[in-house]
Amino acid sequence: MFGESKNTFYICTEITYCVSDTKSKYEKMRLIRIVYVGLICLILAFNQVKAQNPIYLDVNQPIEKRVDQALSLMTLEEKVAMCHAQSKFSSRGVPRLGIPEVWTDDGPHGIREEVYWDKWSGAGWTNDSCTAFPALTCLSASFNPQMALNYGKAIGEEARYRNKNVLLGPGVNIYRTPLNGRNFEYMGEDPYLSSRMVVPYVKGVQQNGVAVCVKHFALNNQEDNRMAVNVQVSDRALYEIYLPAFKAAVQEGKAWSIMGSYNRFRGENNCHNDFLLNKILKNDWKFDGVVISDWGGVHSTDEAVKNGLDLEMGTSTNGLTTDGTAPYSEYFLANPYLRGLKSGKYSETMLNDKVRRILRLIFRTTMSADRPFGKFVSPEHSEAARMIAEEGIVLLKNDKQFFPIPVGKYQKIAVIGENATRSLVIGGGSSSLKVAYEVSALDGLIKKYGKDHIVYSKGYISGDNDYNKEVSVKINTDSLIHAAVEVAQHADIVLVIGGLNKNHLQDSEGADRKSMDLSFGQDELISALLQVNKKTAVILNSGNAVSMPWINDVRAIVQGWYLGSEAGNALANVLSGEVNPSGKLPFSFPKKLDDNAAISFGEISYPGVGDNEVYKEDILVGYRWFDTKKITPFFPFGFGLSYTTFEYGKITTDKKSYSADETIKLSFKLKNTGKIYGADAAQVYVSQKIASVVRPLKELKAFKKCYLHAGETQTVEMEIKAKDLAFYNEKTQSWTLESGEFILYNAASSADLKSNISIQINN
Ligand code: BGC
Repeated sequence: MFGESKNTFYICTEITYCVSDTKSKYEKMRLIRIVYVGLICLILAFNQVKAQNPIYLDVNQPIEKRVDQALSLMTLEEKVAMCHAQSKFSSRGVPRLGIPEVWTDDGPHGIREEVYWDKWSGAGWTNDSCTAFPALTCLSASFNPQMALNYGKAIGEEARYRNKNVLLGPGVNIYRTPLNGRNFEYMGEDPYLSSRMVVPYVKGVQQNGVAVCVKHFALNNQEDNRMAVNVQVSDRALYEIYLPAFKAAVQEGKAWSIMGSYNRFRGENNCHNDFLLNKILKNDWKFDGVVISDWGGVHSTDEAVKNGLDLEMGTSTNGLTTDGTAPYSEYFLANPYLRGLKSGKYSETMLNDKVRRILRLIFRTTMSADRPFGKFVSPEHSEAARMIAEEGIVLLKNDKQFFPIPVGKYQKIAVIGENATRSLVIGGGSSSLKVAYEVSALDGLIKKYGKDHIVYSKGYISGDNDYNKEVSVKINTDSLIHAAVEVAQHADIVLVIGGLNKNHLQDSEGADRKSMDLSFGQDELISALLQVNKKTAVILNSGNAVSMPWINDVRAIVQGWYLGSEAGNALANVLSGEVNPSGKLPFSFPKKLDDNAAISFGEISYPGVGDNEVYKEDILVGYRWFDTKKITPFFPFGFGLSYTTFEYGKITTDKKSYSADETIKLSFKLKNTGKIYGADAAQVYVSQKIASVVRPLKELKAFKKCYLHAGETQTVEMEIKAKDLAFYNEKTQSWTLESGEFILYNAASSADLKSNISIQINN
């Protein structure tokens, strides 16, 4: 602006000088006037054109050019205003320049209802009831990246329709113990499986011009003491176990935002953690998106400014239970930041980097030309939710082919258990959903088998979906058991539908479970039912492993997760055999809690002593621990039965030896040896024969979901990049691929290896 008027002044002086030779004074003045007026008109016209067609509004211009220009037009106050919340879920745009606000919403299983400007409570809209998709543990159990793409696309459409440009999800924290209250929101214990599943989810969402916000970065593996726990973990475990899924989401999925976690790592809060955010995320991984704090996860202006945070949300709340008390203008990245900038304490260059990232996100989403309109609660979304649920349900035990139960086979099916009728989408914390509909297990079974063939009894009761309140159950458990036993003894078969729910201290945010046992007298209930009816099966809803004292006595066990809006339909389709189950466990089910690696090392390893916690099991998380320590779990990682059977052929590779930059092409035959169509998630694990460091006995490096007709044989082909067999070398602070022998196994689960082949790596 100032530059322009200086130039104008200069040009005008020049013209005055040029015309000074002209004859009459009158003519001179006239000429000067004409030239002046002409010039002024030109400048005005130029400014007009520029204002009407600024580059930053031009969707055909490259995003970086638009960001640069928008940034150059902003005042310091406008820039700072973008770096912190203005309401519970939104942050400011630049109204003067027509740059819109950022609107975030949970995530990750559906689009959360509208809440008040500064309250967590629902605002009472009548048009915000969404489709609930299955919990991410279920998605992961599908072992099918195509399902993750469908999931992302559908939930992204719902977010877009609701005018949200940031979806707070997906979550990819690793399943470290069976007690973590939020495991249901994550993708299991294996970094490779989580990585393969998160990438398509991210792509699917972002196709809609909606940014994902991958959470919670990083090491947020428990809810107990989540605001203060200070995690110590080796670099090796960090890079090999806890970071890969985030890295894949950033580098392959091209995630546009990421959420810092509440906990601390090596003494620094993760919402402003120099090592995690500046070094790893922004420098090493070249993340160009926005780092958003978890709600209430920011603790200092200085650290927020310098240690990698871009957008501060939810300050003065503890995430879920309290509403804001401090005004948004007093957020760490609001007035305190502005004052520091004005006094020269903080550099504008750092501020510009934050704002640039936020602008980039806005241009990628709300201000993008290729933004579809989205859809909400469409039949396609129900279909996607149902298919994901069906692909994720895991059949864990099936003695004497208890399942499937074809329609008409039995006269009376007893359905027992609160989860058969309870809403399993409400509760659990920030992922709680207000849904357009939810088909309960009981409704699904009645629809499938007819109401005359189903008889229901509650069996146990858990209480309200009340966040942060211990539920006191007043109803006499004995009388509920008694009533259920009555029903069971007159039925042909018994289906117990129980497990956990989304109450505080179950599968829920803010606290961990206190034991692996089922609550509300369910174990007692199951043994009482078994006394009167041996034909009893248990269907578990949970995002965690649970203890199963009745494992040998029940005929069948189904892991039914939290299945979302289509829960009952999906479950009934699988139980009746209309859909052949094909899900596989994304985490191991230990026989007892102490068998879990983290827990076996005592309090210092979980849940921490004071605020300190050391991940003593290091890289031996999940099946890596069970394998290496030769502990047999109830059900291993990658396990799941089908109504048909599969036969694996011998694994072969295209070559015998590979250099670091080569790709191993492997194949084997897979035959459906049963009588019906089915799918199997075939897995390939790799182990290094002799290594200079401790390595897990084997690690998942490839998998493929294969669909086969009865009797059909397929050649299954997979690829593994030789460099992906490296370990993280703490001495060199880089990945090292050692030369030598590696063994590749094809497998139906981490405990069911079918054949192996040895290859040589020459590096
Ligand atoms: C949770 C986040 C969530 C946010 C907003 C926090 O308590 O940890 O996952 O996205 O609240 O609801």
